[in-house]
Amino acid sequence: MVRFANSVESMRRSEIRDLMKSASSPGLITFAGGMPNNDLFPIAEIDEIYRGLSLKTKQEGFQYCPTPGYPPLIQSVKQYLREKGFPVDTNELIITTGSLQAIYLLAKVLLNPGDRVVCEYPSFIGAIAAFNSFQARMDTISLDDDGPVMEELEAAFRRTPAPKLLYLTPYFHNPAGIIYSQARKKAVIEFLKDQDVVYLEDNPYGEIYFTEQALELTRPIKVITADAEKICYTGSFSKILGPGMRLGYLLAPPEILAKCELAKQSVDACSATFTQVLAHEFLVQNKLQAYLEFIRPIYARRLKSMLHTLEQSMPSGVSWTKPAGGFYVWVKLPEHLDATKVLKESVQNGAVFVIGQTFDPEARRNNCFRLAFSHVPEDKIEPGIEIIARAVKKFM
Ligand SMILES: Cc1ncc(COP(=O)(O)O)c(C=O)c1O
Repeated sequence: MVRFANSVESMRRSEIRDLMKSASSPGLITFAGGMPNNDLFPIAEIDEIYRGLSLKTKQEGFQYCPTPGYPPLIQSVKQYLREKGFPVDTNELIITTGSLQAIYLLAKVLLNPGDRVVCEYPSFIGAIAAFNSFQARMDTISLDDDGPVMEELEAAFRRTPAPKLLYLTPYFHNPAGIIYSQARKKAVIEFLKDQDVVYLEDNPYGEIYFTEQALELTRPIKVITADAEKICYTGSFSKILGPGMRLGYLLAPPEILAKCELAKQSVDACSATFTQVLAHEFLVQNKLQAYLEFIRPIYARRLKSMLHTLEQSMPSGVSWTKPAGGFYVWVKLPEHLDATKVLKESVQNGAVFVIGQTFDPEARRNNCFRLAFSHVPEDKIEPGIEIIARAVKKFM
C-alpha cells in the first residue's frame, strides 16, 4: 500500500475538475467553467507580437528565466500597477504561474498544520484547496451584497489562536459575483488597522467591470489604505489575456516576498518564459486597454441575457446576485434545497453548473450554485438557464 503524506489526507476532490469532465460531453450547455470565452482570445494580437519579436527575444522565450520572473515583464507589470496607485517601490513583485500559485506560495511560507485562515463563504475553490493542502483551519465569514459581514469578521479575529492569514476577493467575487461597497471596504480597512495578520487581496477580475459606478469600486484596498505596503496583493493574466498563459503576479512586502521566491524555486524554478515574453509585449505595446474595451461589453451582454432569463424562468423563493462585472452569478435556493439534486436533474436535461458546497471552505452548505456566463456560447444562455430553472422548480 502506498503511504501517502498526511497533507494529502486533507485534500478534497475538486468537484470543478470532475464536473469539467462531464461538462465536456457534447451537447451539454455548461455554465461550470470559470474561464474566458475561446472566441474572445486576442489571437491576432499575439500572432502579431510573436512575429515582431527579434530572434534574440524568441530565444530568451524558450530559455529558463530568473525565479522572480522575466525581468522586462516584472518592470511592465510594476508600471501597470504604479499607474493604478500601488506601492510598487516599497514592495517587491514576482511573476507566478497563475495567481493560484501566488496563493499557494503564500500559504506555503505562512501556514503550519492547524494555523487559522479567515476567508469568505463562498470562496475560490483553488484557494480553499491550497489552504487545505497545508492543513490550515478555515474560518468563514458570510458575504452580503456589500461585502463581508463585519460582525463575523470581528468574531473570527476574537477567537484564539489568532488567524495568520486573511484571504479576500473583493472585486467581482468568484463565485459570489459581488463587489465590496465603498463603505464596507472602509470598514475592512479600519478593522485591519488593529490586526496582526497577513492580508491577501486577490483580484483577478477587477478589470472586467461593466459600468462606471463599478469602476469606482474596483480601487483595491491595497491602493486606498494608509497601510498599503503591508498588504499582499495578487493579480492574474488569466481573465484579461488567457488562462493558458499561466501567468499571475504577487506584490508583497520584501520580507514575505523573499520567502515566496525561495518556495517558488522548489515548485517550478520559474514561470513559463515564453508566455512572459508575450505578456510583456502585450502590456508595453498598449494592447491591454484596447482588448479590455473590446471584451467588457461582450461579457456585459452575456450577463444581461443571463439575468433576464433568470428573471423570466426562476420560481419565487430563489434569488441571485446581480453583478456589475466579472464572470459569475451566484444563485441562492431556499435553505432546505440541495443544489446537488438540482444539478443531477439539470445535467440529465442538458445543462451543468457548479454546486455551492464546492465553494464552502467547510464543505457543508449546499443551497447555492454558481453560474458562469463567460464561457458558454451566448445563444445557449437562455435555453441553458431554462433547463436549470425547470430542474429547480421540480424540487421546490
Ligand atoms: C478568485 C480567483 N483567484 C485566483 C484565481 C486563479 O487564477 P489563475 O491561477 O488562472 O491566475 C482564480 C481563477 O479562477 C479566481 O477565480
